Amino acid sequence: MKRIGVLTSGGDAPGMNACIRAVVRTGIHYGCDVIGVKRGYKGLIEDEFLPFESHSVSNILQRGGTILKTARCKEFFEKAGRKKAYDNLMNHQMDGLVVIGGNGTFTGAEIFSKEFDFPIMGTPGTIDNDLFGTDMTIGYDTALNTVVDAVDKIRDTAESHNRLFFIEVMGRDAGFIALRSGIAGGAEDILVPETVTSIDELIEILEKGFRQNKTSAVIIVAEGDDAGGAFEVAKKVKEKYHHYETRVTVLGHIQRGGKPSSYDRILASTLGYEAVKALIAGRKGEMVGIINKKVVYTPFEKAIKHNKEINRELLEMARILA
Ligand code: F6P
Repeated sequence: MKRIGVLTSGGDAPGMNACIRAVVRTGIHYGCDVIGVKRGYKGLIEDEFLPFESHSVSNILQRGGTILKTARCKEFFEKAGRKKAYDNLMNHQMDGLVVIGGNGTFTGAEIFSKEFDFPIMGTPGTIDNDLFGTDMTIGYDTALNTVVDAVDKIRDTAESHNRLFFIEVMGRDAGFIALRSGIAGGAEDILVPETVTSIDELIEILEKGFRQNKTSAVIIVAEGDDAGGAFEVAKKVKEKYHHYETRVTVLGHIQRGGKPSSYDRILASTLGYEAVKALIAGRKGEMVGIINKKVVYTPFEKAIKHNKEINRELLEMARILA
């Protein structure tokens, strides 16, 4: 394992730069050349390789985004695209690759590493936290803090105007951001794709709060909720419930930016460091994760398909505490 590549793929996440830095510094420490690949799998196919020195990753630990840039790449899901990527890796005498990304990234890595028997290790870089085989993904903690800060701000104005706010958060088709930001923000209810949303049940919860002299309410809606996004849910509630004026806020891509939290910097550094050590030790085709403070390795196929369970008990607790 003399020449290792590193790339970031899929939606960017705060902490990706910390992970890139750990891969570069660990690879160099163990005598490897480390080559950055720009724009994820697109750069692999279009031969955008960038030799890294130790100083190349100075002063990036604290920055959001990814210095390698990222992209979603359809061509990589075509055999011809993957063959071009493989030829480029061979032309650059690459022995292994660390990919930092989420479900789509590991789906591509799984196909590629089997097709060409090429060593790839992955680190879970996505704000969604929807990968099996790690308690937390890189970027999730920072995104939670961003959402909770926004919820606090919205709660001020909701309380001033006696309003009911529906706040939509990211997570693609998972409710992890919604669940924990809802608990931390004291939301009156949290709507997630993992459970069937009942508008009538939601209205009952609002009625109960109203009877307890609540003069405002905040509902967190995961973008993938089965009842639709925040606008659709607000419309359905408004048709049946008139105690409050309602407003909707879709937080969007603000959840993807910002300086990574200390938690994410440490998680990203640890996972990047462990991924390089794993490649050198001969491991491949796995995502490195941390479960109960222990480093674990999960085959790509299991990480993406073995759907991570949401903690339904926490959903119940949030309603009781609200
Ligand atoms: O996977 C991360 C994520 O932010 C999802 O939560 C969201 O649904 C998606 O990316 C948005 O994708 P894009 O940035 O391509 O619009």
